[in-house]
Amino acid sequence: MASQKPSLRLTVLISGSGSTLQNLIDRTRAAELPATIVGVVASRVGIFGIERAKQAHLPVTVIERKPTATFSERIFAAVRATEPDFVILAGWLHLLEIPTDFENRVLNIHPSLLPAFGGPGMYGRHVHEAVLASGATVSGCTVHFADNTYDTGPIVLQRQVPVLKSDTPDTLAARVQAAECEAYPEAIRKIAGFRSRIG
Ligand code: GAR
Repeated sequence: MASQKPSLRLTVLISGSGSTLQNLIDRTRAAELPATIVGVVASRVGIFGIERAKQAHLPVTVIERKPTATFSERIFAAVRATEPDFVILAGWLHLLEIPTDFENRVLNIHPSLLPAFGGPGMYGRHVHEAVLASGATVSGCTVHFADNTYDTGPIVLQRQVPVLKSDTPDTLAARVQAAECEAYPEAIRKIAGFRSRIG
């Protein structure tokens, strides 16, 4: 008897070039992820991630930050309209107030081995610069459930990469991003598997 594969509905939140979104688009299309991207929410106009979403024929909503007092509310109203199982933060750069109906349903990927090199101001290139300045010999990425603080929340998985003596922020970023391309799909598969077991 054929078993029914669980397919998670994912809404992806982007603030930048959308390379994380592109990886998820490619993995879902290659059937490497039991998931469907049902919507994309962008925090700025003019970012390349919006072009990637459009090229993949995904519905995109842009929600500008201002007025900031209602930002999270407006984001989750747009998210709710897409009826996702999970929200995927993909190069997302803003702190969100997660409403109770989305608690434990928002995932983030961060380009370091949290809790190291996380927190306010620690994103993208800043993380890799700080890792190199610290003399660390190992870095990596972390997929975790987001809560209402920067880069905290239960960790789903981490992947390590070496830091080489010859590394620049760019070469380290490229190695970490390659690890992210495996880690995010792996974390989503893990969650999909867990959900199918608990029904
Ligand atoms: C990734 O390295 C991701 O870990 C980082 O942004 C990059 C992807 O951006 N996210 C953060 O630093 C969040 N704290 P992109 O998907 O826009 O290309």
